[in-house]
Amino acid sequence: MTQGEVYIRADQTGLSYDGRSLSLRDVSFSMQRGEFVSIVGPSGCGKSTLLRLVAGLRSPSSGTLTVDGRVPGDSGTRTSFVFQEPNLLPWRTVRGNVGLPLELERQAATASAEVDSKITQAIRLVGLNEGDDGKRPRQLSGGMRMRVSLARALVIEPEILLLDEPFAALDDILRQQLNEELQRIWHQRRWTGLFVTHNVAEAVFLSQRVLVMSRSPGTLLADVPVPFDFPREPSLRASSEFAKLVGEVSTQLRQAAEGAA
Ligand SMILES: Nc1ncnc2c1ncn2[C@@H]1O[C@H](COP(=O)(O)OP(=O)(O)O)[C@@H](O)[C@H]1O
Ligand SMILES: [Mg+2]
Repeated sequence: MTQGEVYIRADQTGLSYDGRSLSLRDVSFSMQRGEFVSIVGPSGCGKSTLLRLVAGLRSPSSGTLTVDGRVPGDSGTRTSFVFQEPNLLPWRTVRGNVGLPLELERQAATASAEVDSKITQAIRLVGLNEGDDGKRPRQLSGGMRMRVSLARALVIEPEILLLDEPFAALDDILRQQLNEELQRIWHQRRWTGLFVTHNVAEAVFLSQRVLVMSRSPGTLLADVPVPFDFPREPSLRASSEFAKLVGEVSTQLRQAAEGAA
C-alpha cells in the first residue's frame, strides 16, 4: 500500500462455512477508494468467498473485514455484483432488466423520469444503443448479455463493484473488448473494483494490483503492483513489459496451485 485513505481492509480474515474446515485463512490486504484490484488463484481457494465478505453477505469467522471503517453489511455502501452468468430475466427487455435493481431499491420516491434517465445512462455506458433497449435476452449475443448484466450492476451507481469471473465464458477477442470497455467505465466512474479471474493477462490489463491466492484454505501469497498508466491501450498487450509481468504473475499462480494444501 502507498499513501492514501484505506477503504477496504481485511485483517487476518478467516472464514469457515461449516465451523470446522477453513475456506479462507488469515487474509490481510487493504484497498483505497477507487482502486481496481484483481484476484487470481486456483479453483476453490476462496476467491468468491472473499467477495462475499466484502459484500457483507457473510461475516468473517476470525479476524476482521471493514469497508469505510465499518462492518460491510452495516456500512450502507452501494455494492454490485457481476457474475459469469448474466442471469437476465428472459421475459424482460434490456431496459426492464437494467432497471430491476432500482425497482428492488423501491425508488418509489424517485421520479420516474429520473429512473428512466439512470437506466438510459447505464445502457449507453456499456456501449448498447437505443435499438437494443426493447430486445429480450434471447435476441442478444453472449457479449451483449454481459453488457446488459454490467449495466444492471452500474445502474445503482455502486461504490464497490465485485466481478466474479465475469468474462470466463466468452471467447478471447470478446473478452479483450469487454476488458477495454470495463477499463474505460472504471476510469470514468471510479468505483472501487475487485475482479476475480483465472486469466492472468486480463488481471494485469485491468488492474492496479493483482492479488495471488494459494490453494485451499486460501490465503494471500502475493500482492503484485501493475505499473502501467491509465488509460491502457489495447497495444499494451503486445509490449514486452506486459508479457514480462504476465509471466511473473503466472509463475506465482503456478506456485500457488502447487503449494501444500
Ligand atoms: N456456501 C458454501 N458452503 C460450504 N462451503 C462452501 C460454500 N461456498 C464455498 N465453499 C467452500 O469454500 C471453499 C472456497 O470456495 P470459493 O470461495 O467458491 O472458491 P473459489 O471462488 O476460489 O473457487 C471451497 O472449498 C468451497 O467448497
Ligand atoms: Mg469462485
